[in-house]
Amino acid sequence: MRFDIFTLLPEIFPPYLQSSILQKAAARGLLEFGIHNIRDYTHDKHHTTDDTPYGGGGGMVMKPEPMFEALESVLGIPPACPVIMLTPQGRVFNQNIARELAGKEHVALVCGRYEGIDERIRENLITDEISIGDYVLTGGELPALILVDAISRHIPGVLGDPTGADDDSHASGLLEYPHYTRPPEFRGWKVPDVLLSGDHAKIDKWRREQSLARTLAKRPDMLENATLSESDKKMLKAIKEKMKDE
Ligand code: ADE
Repeated sequence: MRFDIFTLLPEIFPPYLQSSILQKAAARGLLEFGIHNIRDYTHDKHHTTDDTPYGGGGGMVMKPEPMFEALESVLGIPPACPVIMLTPQGRVFNQNIARELAGKEHVALVCGRYEGIDERIRENLITDEISIGDYVLTGGELPALILVDAISRHIPGVLGDPTGADDDSHASGLLEYPHYTRPPEFRGWKVPDVLLSGDHAKIDKWRREQSLARTLAKRPDMLENATLSESDKKMLKAIKEKMKDE
């Protein structure tokens, strides 16, 4: 999958993209990154990318010409891939959107700076707007990296583990069960006996129960949209009864 990222701060990206899993996936040809400085597509002496807003008011607005020229030179006219703007006005990013975008061969990510962007960019160049949550950052660079990371984990082969992103928290609409590794006892705290039992049916049941109990305790809102089997519903009922007794 190819990501083309358009930004005024291109230096932010290499340190993260050249680390660990993403770097390995890129070396194996599973991921490809193009980082483009919007300022390289200006033609005036000062390389101006922003200007004061028509109608007055504070802040600066990103000009349309460099943005159009950057995207059209790299992606064609009109761009042949989804063009996603990172903005607090977008739909709120989640695991389903990450999975949906992992199905694309190519996406462009546009990082805004300043107070905003000229509306003609949004109307005529951007095809999708995504927010990473209801708070405002100084720019779209961190959100773009978050999208790249979360999307890439769904591309077959990017994670070494053959189950890939399937077991992650949120993958099935539930939070993940707790994990333990050696030693079996640390400072008097023991690993649950069931995990040492070697009985895989029992371990699977325990993990599912833990997932349900955690989701109920920490993110009850997620249970409304989770796909639950009859046995899940029974377990959940038992967990709720037990909580009432405690
Ligand atoms: N740019 C500034 N804040 C943002 C947010 N919350 N999500 C995406 N892009 C942003």
